[in-house]
Amino acid sequence: MANTERAVLIQAAKRFGTPVYVYNQEKIEDQCKKLKKYFPYITFHYAVKANANPQVLRIIRAQGFGAEGVSGGELAAASAAGFKAKDLSFTCSNLKEDELRDAAASGARVHLDSLKQLETWGRLQLGSEVSLRLNQGIGAGHHKHVITGGPDSKFGIGLSDISEARQIAVRHGLQITGLQQHIGSNALDESVLLKAAVRLLKTAAQFENVSHIDFGGGLGVPYKPTEAPLDLASFSKALVTHVRAFREKQGRDVEFAMEPGRFLVAEAGSLLVSVTDMKETSRHQFVGVDSGFNHLLRPALYASYHPIENLSRTKGKKGSFSIAGNVCESGDVFATDREMFVPEVGDVLAIRNAGAYGFSMASRYNLRTPPKEILMTKEGKSKDVSFDSAEFAR
Ligand SMILES: Cc1ncc(COP(=O)(O)O)c(C=O)c1O
Repeated sequence: MANTERAVLIQAAKRFGTPVYVYNQEKIEDQCKKLKKYFPYITFHYAVKANANPQVLRIIRAQGFGAEGVSGGELAAASAAGFKAKDLSFTCSNLKEDELRDAAASGARVHLDSLKQLETWGRLQLGSEVSLRLNQGIGAGHHKHVITGGPDSKFGIGLSDISEARQIAVRHGLQITGLQQHIGSNALDESVLLKAAVRLLKTAAQFENVSHIDFGGGLGVPYKPTEAPLDLASFSKALVTHVRAFREKQGRDVEFAMEPGRFLVAEAGSLLVSVTDMKETSRHQFVGVDSGFNHLLRPALYASYHPIENLSRTKGKKGSFSIAGNVCESGDVFATDREMFVPEVGDVLAIRNAGAYGFSMASRYNLRTPPKEILMTKEGKSKDVSFDSAEFAR
């Protein structure tokens, strides 16, 4: 970590206390710009679930992105942050009728997840045009919980159900004008994203009225030092060839979309925690901190790796430490046997790459309050941008 960034983070920890999430505006904007540069032929809808902080949403909106929500609450948060209805999309499985009705009324493009949703949409006459979320049998992701394509996934309409979907559409006088898929989260191999996209184009060729094709999210970022970033240049180059061929062959104007979440915000966020205790067992040297899986669930839920740095020390002896939280469960461990400068009580640790699925998955488990959220602005200021997610939840 650069010394300037370290200094800003230490300053934020001092000023706002720990635990605290700190987001870097410049990094979020850089990630948006990267996608726009490599995929000028794509419309982007930011997946709000990755980080729903209102200021984060505004930064991403200002970059010309739309938003994708999976609940009425997420659509409400996006609208409050200024996203227009025409720039919203919605994808959700296992909805109540009221939720589907509300999603349709919001004006968002709704990608229907099942034959049942399609049937309900038709019966309630929620609109004459529909978009279908497909499960084409291709899945990818950092953990089985987030692989959303393939036979083990609850999401989407399978290819074998397409003819029934067409029949339902005809019965209700609906036109299928959109197709969407999302194969999973944190794919670091662009070839699987490409394979799924090409497959979707092949399927879309069978739908004469489709004018919107959404390849979903899933663009990964490296967490471990051994991981390489996605090769966006080669992914984009390959994808554009297929997209052009599709447009030419079909002779119609089609809008292409993606729904990145993690890619925009993961690396922009750190969770800062303070060392509160040290303890040795016959197996581990535990470093106790003032946060836990109630604030950052990914290590406990997915065994996810997050880089962790001791901000308070840049030299001295190193050792191997397991960083444990203050939640009353043994699984509350952020990292096991990680090498770092030997910490002392009071040191501040930065849990890096915590900007996506960090605060947005936080809970009040053990009746502890969620951390504050701080934005490091482009001008180098730290601003408290904490919000109460209950304001939008429904
Ligand atoms: C439908 C849909 N779109 C987009 C995303 C964003 O995924 P990611 O954050 O991996 O880009 C998700 C994440 O689960 C999703 O379910």
